[in-house]
Amino acid sequence: MPIIEITDMTKKFGRHVALDRVSLSIEEGESFAILGPNGAGKTTLVRTLSTLLKPSAGTVKIAGFDAFEEPERIKKEIGVVSHNPFLYDDLKARENMAFYADLYGVGHDRVDVLLKKVGLQERAESLVGEFSRGMKQRLSIARALLHEPKILILDEPGAGLDIQSKRMFYDTIKELNRNGTTVVLTTHYLEEVEELCQKAAVLDRGALRASGTLDEIKGSATTLEDAYIKLTGGAI
Ligand SMILES: Nc1ncnc2c1ncn2[C@@H]1O[C@H](COP(=O)(O)OP(=O)(O)OP(=O)(O)O)[C@@H](O)[C@H]1O
Ligand SMILES: [Mg+2]
Repeated sequence: MPIIEITDMTKKFGRHVALDRVSLSIEEGESFAILGPNGAGKTTLVRTLSTLLKPSAGTVKIAGFDAFEEPERIKKEIGVVSHNPFLYDDLKARENMAFYADLYGVGHDRVDVLLKKVGLQERAESLVGEFSRGMKQRLSIARALLHEPKILILDEPGAGLDIQSKRMFYDTIKELNRNGTTVVLTTHYLEEVEELCQKAAVLDRGALRASGTLDEIKGSATTLEDAYIKLTGGAI
């Protein structure tokens, strides 16, 4: 059984159709990329997976539960890293982590382990308001991992990160995925997809243009980029 199953999902904002009857299955343990030009519907898709947005039609099942009928059953299964880091600027890094550990009902023992994992152990006592964007991004990843989610959902996690942070982030994702965590990420970087993901879906103006293994998406094209341009060529 797929761990994520989206069936005929449509999302409208007023009269604008952001997602048009999208169906997609993601198996447990896969690392899956959602690709597409600006405005294609990637963030909308991952926000519905995070139960932050309700589809206008269709269903989203996560770990066998309907995401909107039983959201409480699935919230503990997912960790979300989005543009909004969901961090408190006037709390220190460690205090932010402790706050979320309490919220998730998990012990504080993982706080320092995770701060170390994302290379922030020396900044644990700094106010998050003083952090750079990349440091906030690192802390946001650590926060999303506190409750050891089965599924990690990331919206453009590599955007704006320096080379070291990106390496740290790639290594963390790969390690989690190797250990069984299902990863769903959106990105504009195809090298990120080739390094981190086994499968992908390509959206264009709300419609699913392709999905499958990277080789399946490549098809007869020589590179993933050629295939992507062919699938989304009409955009902009
Ligand atoms: N809250 C909202 N209200 C109205 N329209 C929205 C809302 N959120 C998204 N949209 C529209 O839905 C479409 C898809 O937006 P979305 O943010 O999902 O795109 P995206 O693929 O993530 O793009 P990007 O690569 O720029 O992040 C866009 O046309 C956008 O304007
Ligand atoms: Mg987006």
